[in-house]
Amino acid sequence: MSNSNITLAAIEQAIGLLSDPETGRSLSKSDQVRNIAWTDDSLTAEIALGTHSLPIADEFQQRAVETIQAKFPNFKKIDITISTIDRPPPTIGQVGLRVRSVIAVGSGKGGVGKSTIAASIALTLKRMGARVGLMDADIYGPSIPHLLNLEGRPEVIDGKIQPRMFGSMPVMSMGFLVEKDQAVIFRGPMLHGSITQFLRDTNWGPLDYLIIDMPPGTGDIALTLSQLLPLTGAVVVCTPQEVALLDAVKAISMFQKTKIPLLGVVENMSGFICPDNGKRYDIFGHGGARRKAEELTVPFLGEVPINIAMRQESDEGRLDQVLQDPICGVPIEKIVRSLVRDLAQRNMVAPPKVSLPVLG
Ligand SMILES: Nc1ncnc2c1ncn2[C@@H]1O[C@H](COP(=O)(O)OP(=O)(O)OP(=O)(O)O)[C@@H](O)[C@H]1O
Ligand SMILES: [Mg+2]
Repeated sequence: MSNSNITLAAIEQAIGLLSDPETGRSLSKSDQVRNIAWTDDSLTAEIALGTHSLPIADEFQQRAVETIQAKFPNFKKIDITISTIDRPPPTIGQVGLRVRSVIAVGSGKGGVGKSTIAASIALTLKRMGARVGLMDADIYGPSIPHLLNLEGRPEVIDGKIQPRMFGSMPVMSMGFLVEKDQAVIFRGPMLHGSITQFLRDTNWGPLDYLIIDMPPGTGDIALTLSQLLPLTGAVVVCTPQEVALLDAVKAISMFQKTKIPLLGVVENMSGFICPDNGKRYDIFGHGGARRKAEELTVPFLGEVPINIAMRQESDEGRLDQVLQDPICGVPIEKIVRSLVRDLAQRNMVAPPKVSLPVLG
């Protein structure tokens, strides 16, 4: 077919083969597609996505070009611009949080890097353009304030707790409410109460993602969370050695019991790349989490090597700077992309309820 016979309807139909990664709905007839123009040789169009999808905007754009090219092979140049729409997130759960995706980061065992990975995922989603909040659900041993070097007491304005801000990212943690070296002594109902307050009484603002750093081990907090709001799912962090993997399986079954979907597994401290000679040493083994994930048919999201800078800098509150170094930043970005891609796939299968976009 020569390009002179091409109609707007035919182009719209080709674009309609694509779906919005956030809503799972076809882009045909959507007002997210604008400014379609073409000549004999080239085509241009603009597709607007919500900020939830921005971490995979480049992949989406690539797919859009390929989809149109497959339908109209005579175009020599196809230019798709991705712009952004301001899409209000839904209000969810009895806590009335305004958020699209709530993701808990957990593990069966302590000290495997949950907090580091949770904060890194949040910071990376934020850097890639999404609206993100970070909640530290480790009431007894909060570590998020330390990782981000954030302190100070949250203010209460009009009955709402104002989260501390890391740049434009709201953060809430028990660490802001107790003195640094003071132990938190809580009984069950108080635990439930503080999690409720973190979710219901905190002014998070509209979010694409709320990342929740879970405490190690027991299912209390998972159960409380699942009663308060529908979680999109959980990410389980583990290290490669066999004992840690057994704990990961325990964590997976804990999330399954509380009906929290499993989004995937991350292998942390996966190999050590020696800064002196660039050689890789698999201190705890390597690839165990990937194999276990395959065995259990859960997605494997990626691996993060052991890195001295990550340990040193993040213990001094400079996690954000550490992520700017590709050695740490690139593996985390891969994990974030897999996560957002998996969420998009889930949305295609079961589209979430969506409020109408506000066009910018
Ligand atoms: N990839 C990594 N390379 C080097 N050090 C790491 C890495 N991931 C985490 N660490 C370090 O390991 C220690 C434990 O990490 P972190 O506090 O994130 O674990 P956790 O699972 O949240 O622990 P807890 O169960 O106590 O909540 C920290 O000192 C952290 O800096
Ligand atoms: Mg932790």
